[in-house]
Amino acid sequence: MRAKKTNVVSFDEVLTSRRSVRSYDATKKISEAEVRDLLIATQEAPSWANRQPTHYYVAISDEKVAAVQNLVGPNKERIQNAPVLIVSTFEHGKSGFFQGNQTNEVGDGWGAYDNGLSNCYLILKARAMGFDTLIMGLRNADGLRTLFNIPEDESIMAVISLGYRDGEPNRPQRKPLDEIVKFF
Ligand SMILES: Cc1cc2nc3c(=O)[nH]c(=O)nc-3n(C[C@H](O)[C@H](O)[C@H](O)COP(=O)(O)O)c2cc1C
Repeated sequence: MRAKKTNVVSFDEVLTSRRSVRSYDATKKISEAEVRDLLIATQEAPSWANRQPTHYYVAISDEKVAAVQNLVGPNKERIQNAPVLIVSTFEHGKSGFFQGNQTNEVGDGWGAYDNGLSNCYLILKARAMGFDTLIMGLRNADGLRTLFNIPEDESIMAVISLGYRDGEPNRPQRKPLDEIVKFF
């Protein structure tokens, strides 16, 4: 891996300091080289039979960033100073399929699963590089498809903002562990 920039040392600190950031520092920019290092890290993510169904469309020019800002509905204000906006998609018929046939009841849901894993690598690596992110499920898929010429055989999932936090975000409370875990 080429990725070098690491500001946060421990993995636990990466996990606990990562938050959904909804206010970005307008004075700090991110280079294409840094985004490339970040996306190289996502390529380490596992995927169904190594099908690697995830694709990323990166808005980094002022023009494209402004266009994507208008395609995230109520999120627009939250990400207005984020210098990079990344659209995440997955190819149909890859994860969860063998020789063209659906392997089990989850079908292309495995593509969404792999996409989420890749996105998880992205947001954690971003934090380790000193960046912040917001995953946005509220977005206009048709508008993004047209803007980036995204093929019809890809499902458009999240838009992820990338930037530097402006202030400290809150940590939303989590459920008690025993509410979500059963040991047998
Ligand atoms: C699939 C997904 C979609 C989300 N969509 C949005 C969104 O459109 N707007 C937003 O402000 N936050 C969005 N979030 C962020 C969640 O609200 C956030 O992760 C959750 O409240 C926990 O906070 P934390 O990320 O700071 O731990 C999304 C998160 C995920 C995983």
